Amino acid sequence: MVTATSSDIEQAAEVLRAGGLVALPTETVYGLGANAEDPAAVARIFQVKGRPPSHPLIVHIAAAEHLDDWVETVPETARLLAEHFWPGPLTLVLRRGHRVPLEATGGLETVAVRVPDHPVALALLSAFGGGVTAPSANRFGSVSPTTADHVRTELGDGVDLVLDGGSCEVGVESTIVDVTGEIPSILRPGGVTREDLEAVLGRSIAVPSTSHVRVPGQHPSHYAPRARVVLVEPEQVVAEAELAQGRGHTVGVFVPASFAGVPVKAHAVVAVPGSMDAYAYGLYGFLRELDQQGCDLIVVSLPGEEGLGLAIANRLRRAAGPRLSR
Ligand code: TXA
Ligand code: MG
Repeated sequence: MVTATSSDIEQAAEVLRAGGLVALPTETVYGLGANAEDPAAVARIFQVKGRPPSHPLIVHIAAAEHLDDWVETVPETARLLAEHFWPGPLTLVLRRGHRVPLEATGGLETVAVRVPDHPVALALLSAFGGGVTAPSANRFGSVSPTTADHVRTELGDGVDLVLDGGSCEVGVESTIVDVTGEIPSILRPGGVTREDLEAVLGRSIAVPSTSHVRVPGQHPSHYAPRARVVLVEPEQVVAEAELAQGRGHTVGVFVPASFAGVPVKAHAVVAVPGSMDAYAYGLYGFLRELDQQGCDLIVVSLPGEEGLGLAIANRLRRAAGPRLSR
């Protein structure tokens, strides 16, 4: 694994202090970081990503004990979840503390906070000493980066420094849980599973459907490669891919693990891993790879929506959603 050195981390902390942008590895995906308390630096994130300024960002902090510095109050449920899952792929939405500028929250009176579980991210947060707002380091609407190379290819000179921390272990973004109300709810499924949250909370937790857009930044189309993505039932994947290829499309196909080894006439074939951990880890890389191979159509089926399958299915649905103009 390629890992940034301590002098790279010092330099990155300097860049943040000077109002610059640093791409940093986390356990989920790479983030595009800025000093959370510097509205001009935060504004640059939106510019570089091409993201509408109304879409709120996540503030990354070094440890759970700093949470009180960034939010108005910490309800018991939030305390419990933070203790249990941080550092880790869980983001908590709470009432905004005064240190967080409205630029970072898209004007909302709530703020999303997490402690990432990656040695490079944690070292940077400690060296910097403050909070780092970081969305995924991709152009608005496209596939999130899971390697430093993805970031360089996609954002180029828009970033002042890219810290290389190897491939992101989880591969899909954090689970976002709104803990501002009486009953916690999942705003975005991600690296911490619904089942794990329910086990800690001792109650069931609601997951709003993909089509129910409540928060800016939760458009139906997101996480999308260039190629059009078509969702079909697992047993139709092979036939659908061959049909589209026969019609002149350059087809990439995700062959489900249960159909492994079945021959398929398509331009590019991804053998979907049987384990959901491995699927999540590979997902964004597979989508990028099919784009790179020139596919104009990707045929894929949804995994079962248990465990990490819930987050994977959410991203695939969004990748297949009506496209944003970008
Ligand atoms: O794993 C992750 O969460 C990665 C890494 C870099 O930490 N970050 C990430 O950021 O996925 P981004 O900006 O791509 O997605 C953050 C999402 C936004 O789409 C937004 O909907 C939600 O977090 N969000 C942020 N602040 C919020 C708030 N105050 N209320 C509700 N949702 C919020
Ligand atoms: Mg994103």
